[in-house]
Amino acid sequence: MGKKGKLEKFAELNSFKNVYQSFEVNSPNLRRSDGEMVQLKGKWAEHFGNDNPITLELACGKGEYTIGLAKMYPKRNFIGMDAKGNRIWKGAKYALEEGKLPNVAFIRSQIDFIEQYFAAGEVQEIWITFADPQLGKPRKRLSSPLFLPRYKNILAADGQMHLKTDSPELYEYSLEMIEEQKLQLHEDHDDIYSLAEQKPEWEIKTYYEKMHLEKGLTIKYLRFSF
Ligand SMILES: C[S@@+](CC[C@H](N)C(=O)[O-])C[C@H]1O[C@@H](n2cnc3c(N)ncnc32)[C@H](O)[C@@H]1O
Repeated sequence: MGKKGKLEKFAELNSFKNVYQSFEVNSPNLRRSDGEMVQLKGKWAEHFGNDNPITLELACGKGEYTIGLAKMYPKRNFIGMDAKGNRIWKGAKYALEEGKLPNVAFIRSQIDFIEQYFAAGEVQEIWITFADPQLGKPRKRLSSPLFLPRYKNILAADGQMHLKTDSPELYEYSLEMIEEQKLQLHEDHDDIYSLAEQKPEWEIKTYYEKMHLEKGLTIKYLRFSF
């Protein structure tokens, strides 16, 4: 069978029970697969049928971290978030059909609306994976002062942030923001695969990471909290 086109993926995505989507421009409203509008803030335990801790992957693309971590930690829940439906389709389809991962869900919407989707303290961990470095537009970076307070508002008191990137600009900028905002930096590596000790989570390689590795770029990682 040939590769599915974007329209076919969008149509399929609309039927996936593990996906919530925003269909209106600049609106945080989310709909589930039967078209009903849903309020998920503070209610993720109802979706998952348990109150296991939640990890959120931002700019998840095809959701490699969401899927990979969900397999590693079946007693935790994982939610990938991205604006692009044809990318989310890959992870959501895998979670439903091949991986059969009930601990996975996806939100197709703007990360800017994150506080509308999660209550204070509802999220235990956030991964930012290979986000666009937004060269020339620092305010739009996912580690900018525009976004950091929103993450703080939804994270548990002992919640953790993980940032994995190939971009020296995003890495340096995130370090500056961590210092400027007086956040706690727990791990800082500018070339993770050169280290003798590897975190099991780093074994997960995203679509963009693979492209960067093929070009010989080094991968950077930060773990911090508020
Ligand atoms: C460079 S890709 C990385 C995707 C994936 N994490 C990977 O490593 O393969 C960046 C992703 O961020 C998403 N993105 C950027 N800004 C966003 C925003 N404000 N809200 C939702 N998604 C966003 C884009 O749609 C894109 O899929």
